[in-house]
Amino acid sequence: WRVHAPLIAEINALKRERNAVILAHNYMTPEIFHGVGDFVGDSLGLAREAAACDAAVIVQAGVLFMAETSKVLAPDKTVLIPDLRAGCSLASSITAADVRLIRQRHPTLPIVAYVNTTAEVKAEVDICCTSANAVQVVEHAAREWGVDTVILLPDEHLSRNVAAQTRVRILAWKGACEVHQRFDAQDVRDMRAAYPDAEILAHPECPADVLAEADFAGSTAAMADHVARKGVGQVVLLTECSMADNLMASAPGVQFLKPCNLCPHMKRITLEGIRDCLVTGRHEVTVDPGVAERARLAVQRMIDLPT
Ligand code: 13P
Ligand code: SF4
Repeated sequence: WRVHAPLIAEINALKRERNAVILAHNYMTPEIFHGVGDFVGDSLGLAREAAACDAAVIVQAGVLFMAETSKVLAPDKTVLIPDLRAGCSLASSITAADVRLIRQRHPTLPIVAYVNTTAEVKAEVDICCTSANAVQVVEHAAREWGVDTVILLPDEHLSRNVAAQTRVRILAWKGACEVHQRFDAQDVRDMRAAYPDAEILAHPECPADVLAEADFAGSTAAMADHVARKGVGQVVLLTECSMADNLMASAPGVQFLKPCNLCPHMKRITLEGIRDCLVTGRHEVTVDPGVAERARLAVQRMIDLPT
């Protein structure tokens, strides 16, 4: 930690100078998460903060779709991302043209997009969801449209996992998170055999057979809350590796067991990159105003749902 201290101090001073806040996702490394993050959390929490905060500059310590969501919700703020290559396999699995074709084929069905999509895709859909509220959003959409079937894209695993929790019929797309789809049910069985007392938590982007054998499934924030409430014992987090690293500080009584997978996109964000982006103003994330306007409707509909 001591090696990071000078850079952390430099970034915190730059933030004050530039009237900037850093929104840090739960998958950031601990020196970012604990050292410089002003708001930390899951996709939903960070989107809410982007809309609510009154800083002039938002530095997104996360991936590009999160920065776009911040820009869509806070069009008058400057949104910076330290590395433009911080993508997401889900966001790149579907285009706006794909969604327009889906709409042509199913003109009467509501289209729900996971926030892990580009702003252009969000602009084509009716409402967004995150892993924290996907079931609620799908049921809301079915009610509002008066239908029994909802299109939920682009994550086929999230869609299947949502379908298991609702009577609404879900039509899915074939996207996947390259990090979470690598877990399989055998991982769960191996961990159970090795650590019979451990509680196994999984992100809903994992395949359905993983969730079927896990003890708890939820967004990164839901997993963090669950671990904090638990306070003691052994935990397996079937998700990105930094999650456990970050929770160790707040739950010292919990022993975190592997396995975990690294997200190469999240790991492109570094302290050096954050410092450089505050110094140079690069890379600014922009969204075409027409696209942003339509995407905002879809994101805002989600945010306006009762919690
Ligand atoms: P959360 O919304 O649960 O933080 O998930 C974001 C993400 O990218 C998970 O892979
Ligand atoms: Fe995308 Fe998966 Fe990385 Fe999250 S963990 S940013 S869903 S690739």
